[in-house]
Amino acid sequence: MDNMIELEHIVKTYQRGAETLHILKSVSLTVARGDFVAIVGPSGSGKSTLMNTIGLLDVPDSGTYRLDGVLTSNMSDNGLAELRNRKIGFIFQQFNLLPRLTALENVELPMIYSGIGKKERRERALVVLERLGMGERGHHKPSELSGGQQQRVAIARALAGNPSLMLADEPTGALDSKTSAEVLELIVQLNRQGNTIVLITHDMHIAENARRIVTIRDGEIVSDERLDGAPSERLTEAVSR
Ligand SMILES: Nc1ncnc2c1ncn2[C@@H]1O[C@H](COP(=O)(O)OP(=O)(O)OP(=O)(O)O)[C@@H](O)[C@H]1O
Ligand SMILES: [Mg+2]
Repeated sequence: MDNMIELEHIVKTYQRGAETLHILKSVSLTVARGDFVAIVGPSGSGKSTLMNTIGLLDVPDSGTYRLDGVLTSNMSDNGLAELRNRKIGFIFQQFNLLPRLTALENVELPMIYSGIGKKERRERALVVLERLGMGERGHHKPSELSGGQQQRVAIARALAGNPSLMLADEPTGALDSKTSAEVLELIVQLNRQGNTIVLITHDMHIAENARRIVTIRDGEIVSDERLDGAPSERLTEAVSR
């Protein structure tokens, strides 16, 4: 079976005083290897909570999660961190680059944690930066780069570890519309090259670049549509902020 993500009956609650907040209410979701899924829904619907669960940053109260065939329930924090580092590349709205490091050093950083030697780290970082059109900028600090260039460095960093899965939470949220379109095109290309991608967005126009759109509302999946099927199969329901 070739599923990258298998979430079954994932429940996540938070306690606020005496009150229990149900953030994810038995979410089940399967994502095939090579797919490109957008997760959309209103603010507060649970998108980031779901993303954090998929990204092994947050542990659910109950339910099971298999990532690339590995059952993650009952794993230790170290085990989860190791699996996360090996399998997942993250792209964030605010890029999350370290300001004191150059582009090249930022791309190399996660490979230090995964124990890749210095020479190979440098080589791989150069290759991915080159591939994303940032070959000339390796020695620039983030502050010397535009927003779009910073996001390219962040994408290079995510790619350098050769992850099974790329997770992007509002990756174009901090970019102007022209730069957003370029970064989005890059993500579409990565998917065409075989990368499995889960992207979170408020923006239906961005979501429409994916192959599949999953809508979450109040902690539940309320629709799941394939875009690479017949257009008539598509739901037209608009998703508001
Ligand atoms: N640590 C926490 N403690 C209590 N409640 C939380 C916590 N984290 C998230 N929540 C609540 O869970 C709900 C879902 O939050 P989440 O961040 O997943 O929403 P979202 O869909 O990503 O929203 P946005 O589009 O605004 O980013 C919100 O009501 C939020 O207030
Ligand atoms: Mg969010």
